[in-house]
Amino acid sequence: MIENAPRRRSVPSDLRVKPRAGAGAVAAAVVTLLFCSAPAPAQAPAAANGAAAGVAHPELWPEAASRGLEDARTEAFVEALLAKMSLEEKVGQMIQGDILSVRPEDLRRYPLGSILAGGSSPPLDAPDRSPAGPWIDTARAFRAVSLERRGDHEPIPVMFGIDAVHGNNNVVGATIFPHNIGLGAANDPKLIRRIGEATAVETAAAGFDWAFGPTLAVPQNDGWGRAYEGYSEDPDLVRRYAGEMVTGLQGEPGLRGPLQRGRVAASAKHFLGDGGTEGGVDQGDNRASEEQLVRVHNAGYPKAIEAGAMTVMASFSSWQGVKMHGNRSLLTDVLKGRMGFDGFVVGDWNGHGQVPGCTPTDCAAAFNAGLDMAMAPDSWKGLYENTLAQARSGAIPIARIDDAVRRILRVKHRLGLFDPARPFEGRTELIGAPEHRALAREAVRKTLVLLKNNGGVLPIRPDAKVLVAGPGADDVGMQSGGWTLSWQGTGNRRSDFPNAQSIYEGLREALQAGGGRAELSVAGEFTERPDVAVVVFGEAPYAEFLGDVQTLEHQPGDKRDLALLKKLKAQGIPVVSVFLSGRPLWVNPELNASDAFVAAWWPGSEGGGIADVLVAGRDGKPRHDFQGRLSFSWPRTAAQLELNKGQPGYDPLFPLGYGLTYASRDTVPALPEISGVNAATTNAGNYYLNGRTPPPWRMVLREGGRTVAVETNAAASASGALSLRAVDAAGRQEGGRQLRWSGQREASVAIVGGPEAKPLDLERQANGDVSLQLQYRVDAAPQGKVTMALGCGPACRPVDVTSLLAAAPAGEWRTAKIRLACFRSAPDAKLAGILEPFALSADAPLQLSIAEVRLMADPSGATCPDRTEGK
Ligand code: BGC
Ligand code: BGC
Repeated sequence: MIENAPRRRSVPSDLRVKPRAGAGAVAAAVVTLLFCSAPAPAQAPAAANGAAAGVAHPELWPEAASRGLEDARTEAFVEALLAKMSLEEKVGQMIQGDILSVRPEDLRRYPLGSILAGGSSPPLDAPDRSPAGPWIDTARAFRAVSLERRGDHEPIPVMFGIDAVHGNNNVVGATIFPHNIGLGAANDPKLIRRIGEATAVETAAAGFDWAFGPTLAVPQNDGWGRAYEGYSEDPDLVRRYAGEMVTGLQGEPGLRGPLQRGRVAASAKHFLGDGGTEGGVDQGDNRASEEQLVRVHNAGYPKAIEAGAMTVMASFSSWQGVKMHGNRSLLTDVLKGRMGFDGFVVGDWNGHGQVPGCTPTDCAAAFNAGLDMAMAPDSWKGLYENTLAQARSGAIPIARIDDAVRRILRVKHRLGLFDPARPFEGRTELIGAPEHRALAREAVRKTLVLLKNNGGVLPIRPDAKVLVAGPGADDVGMQSGGWTLSWQGTGNRRSDFPNAQSIYEGLREALQAGGGRAELSVAGEFTERPDVAVVVFGEAPYAEFLGDVQTLEHQPGDKRDLALLKKLKAQGIPVVSVFLSGRPLWVNPELNASDAFVAAWWPGSEGGGIADVLVAGRDGKPRHDFQGRLSFSWPRTAAQLELNKGQPGYDPLFPLGYGLTYASRDTVPALPEISGVNAATTNAGNYYLNGRTPPPWRMVLREGGRTVAVETNAAASASGALSLRAVDAAGRQEGGRQLRWSGQREASVAIVGGPEAKPLDLERQANGDVSLQLQYRVDAAPQGKVTMALGCGPACRPVDVTSLLAAAPAGEWRTAKIRLACFRSAPDAKLAGILEPFALSADAPLQLSIAEVRLMADPSGATCPDRTEGK
């Protein structure tokens, strides 16, 4: 796994660099010294992970001209406070818990330095998807306990972080800006700064101190589920944006007390190389050479540091086989040494637990490597106890603890956290403020990339009759993408976005003003023949590894959107496609079926920005031209996952920088429709949906060692102990299957991989609280034991679902979510090598219909039905 590693060197621990503003040259000299020592053993011992994989060429790394967070006043304050702190208080500062698992009163016993709200963590005692009020109460409740004076406890304000990554996107009513991929297309650094400012104001107003952005990944593989969180595949663009976003969020470099001015701390993430993992696998291994790592993946960091970034988040990924959370060479010597970063390094969600030899509750190696604050969402208690013990035993040197705490206190002091005045907190009128929404709408206009406009079908005359169709036409959740009100951005309804406009609503507004009219029909039906149809479709929202794909084909094996385009085309209606997505996808058939095609990315709450560009003014001239230019190369085949400008043989359909304007006369010819990828490589998480078992999966019935494949809508196991027939479900004719166990002997239904299937590794999903979701209806209650299983050999155990099914009222469709982790036979068992993602067995009579079997990311309501402990 580390064969390609550069020559690895170990770094003597006593030569740690203490960076100082303006001490770049000295730091550089020290760092150079650091790298001339003995080669490490070929097989790095787990605990020495960090020390082993080092950079070999420190001179390749830029010396950022850090404006420095250090100043005499802050340092004096920090030193005085540090001198009064107990070891418990110091260790507490180094740990961050998630508000789903920590209560304010816990801070009395565990003086944590920070709390976060993870993607799907609601405010205290409030529902998912809450407006600012409960968030402000939550912030105040935690802060109040952290500031209590108890005995000789030093009051230190807790720092509250959230993924405000496209606006303050977890707060109902907040302005949702386009995702970074779209902002990249806008190619407008000043716009980025203004978005940062507005985001900071909405974040501070809701009680937070810290936004976990900007993402400075330079995604090189568009199959990566986080490609959209990056601005561009082009390191130059990321470089030009990095400092602007940090300055927007935090204020001018060197500003004192940004919080008092409606600013928050930023977090440049994920350091380093997250966008370059092998095969685009999230949290995977980046095998770039050191030169590529510096040139491509580090492009944004020096600018972020120059702008005074207060925090940097370590990446889940590895470089040359070594997890970043354990990489002392990069975290300490390069980032804090050579590049002069004097804020603190925060970890990612239990990311320290992935360092060899570590668990989420125990990881001295990460702190020793340079991690200053661990993100320990649900593991904070154990991590606190163990880290304290390691600090006492010397396994983590006190000098390292003091360095980490100094950095954390420095940030807190510079941010203004010790100042009780928080003039922006509670100003809820700033959340979704008209000027922020106007800015987001301007951003939407600038992010749109016109790929095709044959025959000048755009702009649309303002008095035209327009049919607005497609699944994204009137769906603010879909147009906002991942990281919106929930981690995955799924499960949102229109009412969750009080301050928003759908794309249809924006078109209706523009057409009504111009004397035309818009008719909405998702399915593309109409009462009055339209002059033109605008069809809004694309990817459903996703986040992180749940968005990883192996083909860039849009809807492989199930071309619903294409069917809609063709249906309209066949009626002679000109078709304008508005494509929503988190990455460029192979859409040649959809491009062929459209007269005009607009890549709109995930524009966010201001759907009106689309009408601004698509619908002409009363004079028939465009009101706004297309300004977006691709910041990611657009693929010619679905196999071009790694398609980046400058690579040998670069052969995109549309190159980086492409984008038509209203002045262009270019015509896109008919394109080949062979995707180049077998559709069976998809569907890693969809096992039975819409009445079918998508490739590479098949459904089988098993009885007494004999297996019968379910080829049609009626089947029976070997001697009939289990039979199956199609039933209507989920509003679809034959959308489900009814299973009838006679009870004569044990039999099971299972989903198994066909010959083209690759074994699934569901470890990351299990760790990320993903569940196996079953939509079912009990038609006749179970008369004996029923178990549900996942096939991974001895590492898996069957889950008893008898009581779950017995409790379900007969004849009613229900959804069960069984946490993947429940299938582990032991806490350290690995859910890998799975060729059978679902099986249900019974040996007594039961009648059950199923409509859906799939993985589900939203953890709400997920259980282990046969275990009592909590979640
Ligand atoms: C993501 C980070 C995010 C953190 C907190 C992690 O899983 O990788 O980008 O900031 O969770 O939600
Ligand atoms: C959290 C996210 C986090 C993810 C990591 C989710 O449960 O809500 O914030 O990034 O887990 O796996």
